Amino acid sequence: MEKFIVEKSHSLKGVIDISGSKNAALPILAACVLTDGECIIEGVPPLNDVTTMLELIRELGCKTSYEGETISVRGKDIDNLTLDYNEVKKIRASFLLAGAMLSRFGRADIALPGGCSIGLRPVDLHLKGFEALGAVCENEHGIIHIRCEKLKGCEIYLDFPSVGATENIMLAASLAEGTTLIRNCAAEPEIADLADFLNKMGADIEGAGSDLIKINGVKSLHGCHHRIIPDRIEAGTFMLAAAATGGKIRLNNVCTAHMTALIHKLREAGAQINEEENSITLEKRGKTVNTCIKTMPYPGFPTDMQAQFMALMATGRGTGIVNETVFENRFMCAGELTRMGADIKVEGRCAVVKGVRELTGTAVKATDLRAGAALIISALAAEGKTEIGEIEHIDRGYFHIENKLSGIGARIERRSYED
Ligand code: UD1
Repeated sequence: MEKFIVEKSHSLKGVIDISGSKNAALPILAACVLTDGECIIEGVPPLNDVTTMLELIRELGCKTSYEGETISVRGKDIDNLTLDYNEVKKIRASFLLAGAMLSRFGRADIALPGGCSIGLRPVDLHLKGFEALGAVCENEHGIIHIRCEKLKGCEIYLDFPSVGATENIMLAASLAEGTTLIRNCAAEPEIADLADFLNKMGADIEGAGSDLIKINGVKSLHGCHHRIIPDRIEAGTFMLAAAATGGKIRLNNVCTAHMTALIHKLREAGAQINEEENSITLEKRGKTVNTCIKTMPYPGFPTDMQAQFMALMATGRGTGIVNETVFENRFMCAGELTRMGADIKVEGRCAVVKGVRELTGTAVKATDLRAGAALIISALAAEGKTEIGEIEHIDRGYFHIENKLSGIGARIERRSYED
């Protein structure tokens, strides 16, 4: 078990290279199950969630290798189409293997992932999509048995633009007979990256990145080469850290077009941001000005940046409002920030953040991945020393975040509990 010890860091300065996107890599790894050809994926950060996904696809019988940041997957010898609860509960993205298994083999037996610390997270929309394509889904003791003779293209309307459901349906429909239309689908950049990958495998997908995706089913898919898009959430987290401490940082390997909502909100808060072709610079002096954020499906403000923005506002000038519309229980970090002296009131899906002069370091715990990132941001700006526990949550989505932060002058160390 490890923890972070973080001390007040006055002004972050320097350059960070942003890694490939975790949330793009996970569905793309699931897509590798669709073919017996070899898929080579570059720019994949060695995160715990990625290694867990690799373990799961090996469990199905895929051969994998992982050298540097390049993964190779070969799904020629798949001989298992069952994933039980102990495997599925490790990462929710494991449920994306259902769409891929169903599409290629006509069946999947996979445990329901269940809720997690940020909400109920049902998979009803995924299953509704599979059923619309002609599959039968039966729940027996928490395992969903999904069967079909032949998936047939259809028109699907999603009640909510769920990222996972859109991806699962894309995977399932890629090898279906005929054309599938997904209306009110998610438009996140990670969906467009998955579509790019599938098209390189020989799929015929149009419209990914908009609210209507058209998938013309093909007979078979082949291996391909792909480089993962930059991680917009990792980039945003470092921007918020620099905004909270003041300073000037430059991030390389970013796609600023994927970060529009955050860039606007940071400018509103008083940060100076300069966007270039593949990089972005943020400069901030003095306190930020609190504002309102409302999380929404892309291109709205990302729910995965909400906790980190709340951390920034904890010491901003004035009162800020956070409205979380995507997940029903994503204010876990407010309690930890309050332990550090923040003034945050949560009422249903809204949090009112009254900026305080300064936070003070204490012992806190990362309740989930992004809440953990938020605590690091607060700790860097807080007076004294903060000890952040349960950092395995943070490691799920940031590869040795302490090294990248130390490189721009942050005082952060990883220690084991025995130290
Ligand atoms: C993905 C991201 C996660 C991000 C989220 C929202 C990955 C691996 N994870 O998660 O980091 O926070 O998008 O941007 O890419 N819902 C239903 N029924 C369903 C599916 C979802 O009601 O069948 C609800 C969820 O409970 C939630 C909302 O829809 O309230 C959004 O969930 P969804 O977009 O599916 O998120 P994930 O794909 O799980």
